[in-house]
Amino acid sequence: MTDLQPSILRGEVKVRGLSKSYALNRSSLSVLRNLDLDVNGGEILAIVGPSGCGKTTLLRVLAGLESPDRGEVLIDGHPVAGVGRERAVIFQEPRLLPWLTVLENVAFGLEVRGVPAAQARERARHYIHLVGLTEFAEAWPRQLSGGMAQRVGIARALTVQPEILLLDEPFGALDAMTKLTMQEELARIWREEGVTMILVTHDLEEAIFLADRVLVLSRDNSDPARLIDVDLPRPRDRSEQGFVAMRRRLMAEFGLH
Ligand SMILES: Nc1ncnc2c1ncn2[C@@H]1O[C@H](COP(=O)(O)OP(=O)(O)OP(=O)(O)O)[C@@H](O)[C@H]1O
Ligand SMILES: [Mg+2]
Repeated sequence: MTDLQPSILRGEVKVRGLSKSYALNRSSLSVLRNLDLDVNGGEILAIVGPSGCGKTTLLRVLAGLESPDRGEVLIDGHPVAGVGRERAVIFQEPRLLPWLTVLENVAFGLEVRGVPAAQARERARHYIHLVGLTEFAEAWPRQLSGGMAQRVGIARALTVQPEILLLDEPFGALDAMTKLTMQEELARIWREEGVTMILVTHDLEEAIFLADRVLVLSRDNSDPARLIDVDLPRPRDRSEQGFVAMRRRLMAEFGLH
């Protein structure tokens, strides 16, 4: 099926002069200030920074769930307003519909877009297989572990074949072991699908394990955003010297040792 081909080299994101503030106690809280950013098609960009620095805000603006005060977002050269089919979002909690099976949850996004049920389910099965849950296609969400539920969330997002996957701390609620497995799975899925990924994370090691580049945001816009290349071969090895050096470098960005 040709429409299962990955959309390599599409999914380019440009952010130009993006500013966003919120009203807070009658004053204005500037969260993003004049941000410029280029994300290449098929790249993984991680976004890190202290709590409250605007990571989720940036992701929500990219998703079209929030509009900027100034500036614009271009996807494949076209300015975007609002949500769009070329973008899918994965939140910290997968928010599955409890009255639908795994298969029905994953196929749901296609069915509401008018894809015939049989075709939607065929494609859903492909992505359920990709996230390693073939045997759980008929299970109910309540029968899944946290990591499995999050994998269903990933399958659901991929099934609509977005060019860009926006992930907001997707593994933040998982235990340490499951998180490592999920990071490996996400790296594999990215290799197989060639989708652009923009990943917000608190976890510097996760950023280095997955990303081509890391965007470091500072609290209160005190410093301009910085971009750091993660020039390490894949698949990445957390104990390898280059990896450890990169972790040290990223920690130093936050004044940590
Ligand atoms: N809808 C809103 N209304 C008012 N203020 C908001 C709103 N959403 C976010 N903020 C404020 O904007 C700032 C950035 O919030 P945001 O959620 O983007 O931070 P974050 O970097 O994702 O933090 P965390 O790492 O804790 O998730 C915070 O000070 C927050 O209080
Ligand atoms: Mg956040």
